[in-house]
Amino acid sequence: MSALQPFKQLIRARCGLQLDGLAEERLNKALQQICRQKKLSGFDAYYRLILKQPDDFDELVSQLTINETYFFREPQQIDLLIKRLIPRLLAQAAPQTSLRILSAGCSSGEEPYSLAIALNEAWPEQATQLFTLHAGDLDRQVLEKARKGAYSAFSFRTLAASLRDKYFRSSGKGYLLDETLKQRVCFFELNLLNPKVTDEVGQYDLVFFRNVSIYFDTETRQQIQKNLAQLMKPNGILVLGSSETLANDLGVFQLVEELGQYYFVKGTQLLPQSVSRPVQPAKCTPVTPVVPPESLEVVTLRFEPESQPRLVEDKAEVSRLTQPGASIEQIRQHIIEDDLALAIRLLDQYTPYQSARWSEAALLKAWLSANHKNFTLAHQLVDELLHEDAWQVDALFVKALTYKWQEEYDAAIQVFRKVIYTTPTCWPAHYYLAECLRVQGDLKGAEQIYLTVRRILAGGAAPANGFALLPFQLQAKDILFLTERHLLRLKAALSTDRDKESR
Ligand SMILES: C[S@@+](CC[C@H](N)C(=O)[O-])C[C@H]1O[C@@H](n2cnc3c(N)ncnc32)[C@H](O)[C@@H]1O
Repeated sequence: MSALQPFKQLIRARCGLQLDGLAEERLNKALQQICRQKKLSGFDAYYRLILKQPDDFDELVSQLTINETYFFREPQQIDLLIKRLIPRLLAQAAPQTSLRILSAGCSSGEEPYSLAIALNEAWPEQATQLFTLHAGDLDRQVLEKARKGAYSAFSFRTLAASLRDKYFRSSGKGYLLDETLKQRVCFFELNLLNPKVTDEVGQYDLVFFRNVSIYFDTETRQQIQKNLAQLMKPNGILVLGSSETLANDLGVFQLVEELGQYYFVKGTQLLPQSVSRPVQPAKCTPVTPVVPPESLEVVTLRFEPESQPRLVEDKAEVSRLTQPGASIEQIRQHIIEDDLALAIRLLDQYTPYQSARWSEAALLKAWLSANHKNFTLAHQLVDELLHEDAWQVDALFVKALTYKWQEEYDAAIQVFRKVIYTTPTCWPAHYYLAECLRVQGDLKGAEQIYLTVRRILAGGAAPANGFALLPFQLQAKDILFLTERHLLRLKAALSTDRDKESR
């Protein structure tokens, strides 16, 4: 038996953590380091120590947990929460009671504080009365950090600077959370495999349990779900990370789909189809402060804002969505076919360190993020790609288009010109460049570029659009149609201008 085996068994039995593969290596390193620090003769002596001393056991666990987190992670889930789930729960709640929300596996606090910020943005006057926020984690060290509320810039990688500046003040190299907001979250030690929170049994309306289940095997996941169900109210809602939800449909909760996202409800009663909203959210667009104008030309992905929640009872649907190991080509095809929930879930399997094709995954993710109006994330991803290759056409195009959608036309024009410089036949870039010039009032400049689009596209088969991977869905014939329409209008506008000048 390996010297690590007793540690692996103990940690799995007490905390559920599965320490195989890379995690086993981490365990080995941690044990060597701790034994050296404590001047112990070997792993056996340390094993005897952690059996007797809970603090030493916790110290080891702290070294083994993965605490990766950041503010407004998966913002579309927070958006669904604010716009749909919370108003529905408020409508059902007894008067004078607050909704109780738990962030289970909260790490250093970015998740529960993001919820506190989003709730405060949506219900600025009433958030304190309407919501009670709790957050628990196994790892004492991260809880200490959470209680301090001090973060480095890395935690803000997807949060709009305006929100960061509203709720944090800069301090040295990092940021300190506003004291009032900090008071809104109560942190406590929580082992989900063995929760000792008797006061909280049956109390939570909503539980965020995101990016934790990946460290457990199926049996442990099921046990943890049963424990969570005990903590929740009869119709409580459980939210997992979007890439883990479908693999956690283990018969404990009911899987529900709403607006292309999945979550779980306790019990079998689906929430009412339409409910009155006693308290309307003021607004909540935490990571997408600027919304691009709706227009036929820019909307390439469809969303169904009016769709109702529906129970997912078809097991074939679940197994289709949980197929592992899709290739980039398959994910791209899912995007083209508008199967966005599946594309997002599959893309989440690619991380910078795990996949040689991460840059392609990042490009598709940037494209989806941009189309979801999450410009911060889209820019962050394309900037990483452009850092590797400053002239990558697909990444440049996504960057330019997101500038355009945010009405930053000067920046968009500059980047569209770069695309054209590298790939002169990239007709989508010519077309959008003309659009930017037209919106900015440079009618002559716009006409010139529309004429170029016509030259590229008119007369027979259109050339390739120049993208290596981007699932750009607008057809050449549609762009040509729009170009002709703009040319007609521009011609009329320019001749009126000339008439005025000659008078
Ligand atoms: C990757 S972080 C996720 C943080 C946050 N929920 C998010 O999505 O950004 C996973 C957290 O789960 C915690 N965790 C792992 N096993 C746990 C258990 N048995 N009980 C409670 N927390 C646990 C870890 O300590 C870690 O902080």
